Amino acid sequence: APIDAPDITKCGNVETQGQVLPVDCCPPTSLKIIDFKPPPITKLRVRPAAHKVGKEYIAKYNEALKRMRELPDTDPRSFSQQADIHCAYCNSAYDQTGYPGVELQVHNSWLFFPFHRWYLYFYERILGSLIGDPTFAIPFWNWDHPGGIAMPAMFTSDKNSALYDVNRSIAHQPPFLLDLDYSKSKDAGKIPQFKDQVDENNTIMYRQMVSGAKTQSLFFGGDFRAGEQPENSPGSIEATPHTPIHIWSGNEKNKFGENMGNFYSAGRDPMFYAHHGNVDRMWSIWKSLPGKKRTDITDPDWLNSAFLFYDQNKNLVRVTVADSLDTKRLGYVYEQVDLPWLKSKP
Ligand code: C2O
Repeated sequence: APIDAPDITKCGNVETQGQVLPVDCCPPTSLKIIDFKPPPITKLRVRPAAHKVGKEYIAKYNEALKRMRELPDTDPRSFSQQADIHCAYCNSAYDQTGYPGVELQVHNSWLFFPFHRWYLYFYERILGSLIGDPTFAIPFWNWDHPGGIAMPAMFTSDKNSALYDVNRSIAHQPPFLLDLDYSKSKDAGKIPQFKDQVDENNTIMYRQMVSGAKTQSLFFGGDFRAGEQPENSPGSIEATPHTPIHIWSGNEKNKFGENMGNFYSAGRDPMFYAHHGNVDRMWSIWKSLPGKKRTDITDPDWLNSAFLFYDQNKNLVRVTVADSLDTKRLGYVYEQVDLPWLKSKP
C-alpha cells in the first residue's frame, strides 16, 4: 500500500544519528485538510539558473524572502516553518499513518524526488504571493555546469541579504570549487584546478544521470511502502551529488554540519531551495534523455503516496505523487541551459 500523508497532530521528537535533538519542528495543526489539485495555469513560471540572473531578480527574491522571514514563527508560511517542514519529514518526527512506531522518512527511497518537488512548489507559491507576483520562480543552483561550480553569489555576496546564511562552510566560500563527489576525507587534498574539477564533475554527472541511472529504481531509489521501515536505497542523484553538496555546504564547525549538513537544519539555509531546484531539474532532464526505461514509475504505491503542506493561503493541503510528475501541470519549467556532462562519456 502507498505511504499516506502523516497525521501532523501526532508530531514528535526530532532525532539525528540516534540522538534526540532539543528542537521542535512540528507544524501548526489544522482541522481542515483540502485535497490539492494544481490550479489552471495561465503563464509558466521559468526557474532561472542562479548564476545567470540579474540584479533585479536578486532584489525581488531578496524582498520576497525578507517578507517570509518577517512573518511570525507561528504562521505556516514563515521561513522558520518552511525550514521545519524538512526537519519534521526527515528527522523521525512523524510515524507513518496507521503504523505507530514506524518512521516516515522522505529520503533514501522513491519518495525523495516527489516530496522535494512539492516542498519547493509551495515555498515558491508562498514567496510569489508575499510579493504579489504569482509568476515568481525560484532559482536553481546549476551545479552540473561550470557556471555553478561554486556557491551562487546571490547567497554569499551580501551579508545583509535575506538570502545570506551565516551557518555555512567557511572553507568552501566562493570562489572555492565544488566537488560533486565531496567527502570530508577529501578536505586534506590539494586545491583543484578549475579545468580538472569541471572534468571530474562532468564525469560524475554522466555516471549519475546516464550510465548509472539506466533503470527507474537506479534513478528514483528503492520502493518504500506503508508499514515498511525506512531503508537505505537512495537513487543515483540523491546519493551523489545531492548528499555530498549538503555536507560540503554546511558549517564544518557545527556539530551536525548545520545548516546544510543535517536534515533538521538544511531548510534554514536559503541555498537549500536552490540546491533542490537543481535536484528537481535532474528529474525532468532524466526523463528527456533517450531510452524507454527513462519514464516515471507506474506502481500505484508510489503514485498514491501523499504528503501534507500548507499553501500560500495557509490552507493545509494533501498532495499526491501522481500530481507531481509533470512540472508544467504545476505551472513551471526550468530555464534551458546546456548539459556539458552529457558529452562526458568516459
Ligand atoms: Cu531533503 Cu537535500 O534533502
